[in-house]
Amino acid sequence: MRVLITGGAGFIGQHVASQLASRGHETVAMDLLLPQVHSDPEGAVRRFPGEVIRADVADEQAWEELPSFDALIHLAAETGTAQSMYERGRYERVNVGGSRLAARAAAGTGVPVISLSSRAVYGEGLRDEDGALRASHEDDPHRPVSFYGETKSQAEAALIEESEGKSPAAIIRPQNVIGLGQALRNPYTGVLAAFLARLREGRPLSIYGDGSQTRDFVHVADLAELIVWNLEHMPQTSQPRILNCGTGVRTSLTKLAEYAAAASPAGASVIEYVDVHRAGDIEHACADLGRLRAVGAPLPSRTTADAVTDFIVGSWQGDVAPSRVWDDALDELSSRGLVGES
Ligand SMILES: NC(=O)c1ccc[n+]([C@@H]2O[C@H](COP(=O)([O-])OP(=O)(O)OC[C@H]3O[C@@H](n4cnc5c(N)ncnc54)[C@H](O)[C@@H]3O)[C@@H](O)[C@H]2O)c1
Repeated sequence: MRVLITGGAGFIGQHVASQLASRGHETVAMDLLLPQVHSDPEGAVRRFPGEVIRADVADEQAWEELPSFDALIHLAAETGTAQSMYERGRYERVNVGGSRLAARAAAGTGVPVISLSSRAVYGEGLRDEDGALRASHEDDPHRPVSFYGETKSQAEAALIEESEGKSPAAIIRPQNVIGLGQALRNPYTGVLAAFLARLREGRPLSIYGDGSQTRDFVHVADLAELIVWNLEHMPQTSQPRILNCGTGVRTSLTKLAEYAAAASPAGASVIEYVDVHRAGDIEHACADLGRLRAVGAPLPSRTTADAVTDFIVGSWQGDVAPSRVWDDALDELSSRGLVGES
């Protein structure tokens, strides 16, 4: 079938497209090739296995001019958590408005739609009565902490509203996704790219806070497999199927830094802790995998340590930004009053 992938030229989109192409599907990308994400837009277009249409998902007219498609995978979004706290209009327009138009386009012809949300809709991880951390379940209430999370929550609502009774739909909420091809020059996303930049320069790995914060890091290939599985097993219910995507394993930021340092071709590195807290950041996140198991979806097969190693080794020779751009992004947040003590 012909699958339209919005944001197809991006990190996750390229992995999804190559898995689809290897299964015999035709892929078309709708992507604005944002400079913040793409330092080499021509390279991204060349890597994509199919046509890349340069268009804005938040532009109604652009949707009318697209060729027909048999399924839609909606990935295009503005993804910087901290940046969303001061670029609200831009995040709302693309993430909410763009998602509504995407869902409407699919509903117009009744084709299936899979939309990527985020674990950010959950906000801070919950605790049991005895204080123990609890993994996030798909039925947990939305309590986003960042504006990015808020836009993702509203995007889900828009998708549900537009697709109900018109097209089969699925929503996937990935935790932190890592792997080859993730942005190496975007200081607004991805702690691991910041670690990579510092490892290459022989600088200490810098952690904001005391490093005890936890995240669930999942390999991009596992997410791509889950997306493809959804496409081939679309629910025929009137409400979208909502699924987490993660490993179900908590990794502290200190542990993540240790994995990165262990994978570094440059050898040993030290970790430094910086006493800051950025607005929009949470302490803990981890996915509950119960529903994935219940519906028979593929579970991740790669560990976080392996995913980190893949990323560090595979990106070592890549076009990595100098590490000071992450320092500059923190200064920018600070100048806007969005940084406090941890
Ligand atoms: N990477 C993660 O850790 C992660 C975690 C949870 C959810 N997600 C979600 O997954 C999706 C893909 O993320 P990614 O990591 O591949 O990001 P990415 O930035 O690498 O890719 C996003 C792509 O969307 C394009 N884009 C942005 N605005 C656009 C617009 N207005 N019109 C058309 N194209 C536009 C960009 O040019 C880029 O190619 C996003 O919806 C993101 O919120 C990602």
